[in-house]
Amino acid sequence: MANPIRGLVLAGGTGTRLRPITHTSAKQLVPLANKPILFYGLESLARAGVNEVAMIVGDTREEVKAAVGDGSRFGMNVTYIHQEKPLGLAHCVLLARKLLGDSDFIMYLGDNFIRDGVDAFVQSFSERSDGTNAQILLAKVPDPHRFGVATLDSTGNVVSLVEKPKVPASDLALVGVYLFDPTIHEAVRSIAPSARGELEITDAIQWLISNGKSVKSHIVEGYWKDLGEPEALLEGNRLVLESLERRVEGEVDELSRIEGRVALEPGATVVRSIIRGPAIVGHGAVIKDSFIGPFTSVAAGCVIESSEVEHSIILNDSRISNIHRLEGSIIGKSAVVAKTERRPLANRLVVGDHSRIDLV
Ligand code: G1P
Repeated sequence: MANPIRGLVLAGGTGTRLRPITHTSAKQLVPLANKPILFYGLESLARAGVNEVAMIVGDTREEVKAAVGDGSRFGMNVTYIHQEKPLGLAHCVLLARKLLGDSDFIMYLGDNFIRDGVDAFVQSFSERSDGTNAQILLAKVPDPHRFGVATLDSTGNVVSLVEKPKVPASDLALVGVYLFDPTIHEAVRSIAPSARGELEITDAIQWLISNGKSVKSHIVEGYWKDLGEPEALLEGNRLVLESLERRVEGEVDELSRIEGRVALEPGATVVRSIIRGPAIVGHGAVIKDSFIGPFTSVAAGCVIESSEVEHSIILNDSRISNIHRLEGSIIGKSAVVAKTERRPLANRLVVGDHSRIDLV
């Protein structure tokens, strides 16, 4: 039997596009529906039977290591590799050469979210008998110039790949999940750095194609990647909440209503409030005299009182008090948003770098 498929998970990168949330957090740890983006990937790899994972980390490595640990909570063994400078995705393959050995492997970019996971994708690659050397995932996107872009022939074979073209030849973006056999090692050794000074995995896959190797593709639905605007994060949150299942494990008093698909974690408390799903409320959060509307994630330890919040992400241990009403908002950790009676009656703000506040 062939070696089991290994994992190469990329969790470096600084995430300037999601600032200010990523000033204090690795972008792979930004939560969608209260769970770090990276964890969805790891869980899906574990389900696919990938249990040996090399994880590339950069400047945010301490935080990533603290969150993922040795991988045992995911049922896998995680070995960390420090990439000192962001020299490109193909450079990560070079760094992991020894750990990957001659196994087939799945390369997974930790800031990518794929709603339906990668289980089927991994299984089809491990059972292939047609000598496919690499398999890529593609998704139709409205802004292909921000991605690697693929051109296919009429039978679906990949003809060419270009990294972030100014004029994209199609709307098919390379999703950050790739399956490789060991021929990729020769490819990453053969390419030169791109104009942005990085060894691009896109160029390495193009090298495979140009050298007569077989590269197959598969188009996925339900793809999300952080792309700059905070609105994109809210959209990712919405994508995950859309498939949430109802689970009311916290405490709800008689004067409250929990409507539709709401996940109320154990230890959460709801008093004289309405929560209308899809929404999630984390462990130990308190919702009092409030309305929590659809597509809202309230993380563990938050307090929301006498307020209305909808279509928003509230990170751990924050407090929202007497606010009518908060929509389309992202509130960082341990933040306080409160209406005040204190004189002089004015807006008093202590706001981090790159923040945005819209007042009415
Ligand atoms: C990388 C790849 C790109 C791919 C994208 C998906 O880009 O180079 O081809 O479409 O990941 O996340 P990056 O986001 O590192 O600029």
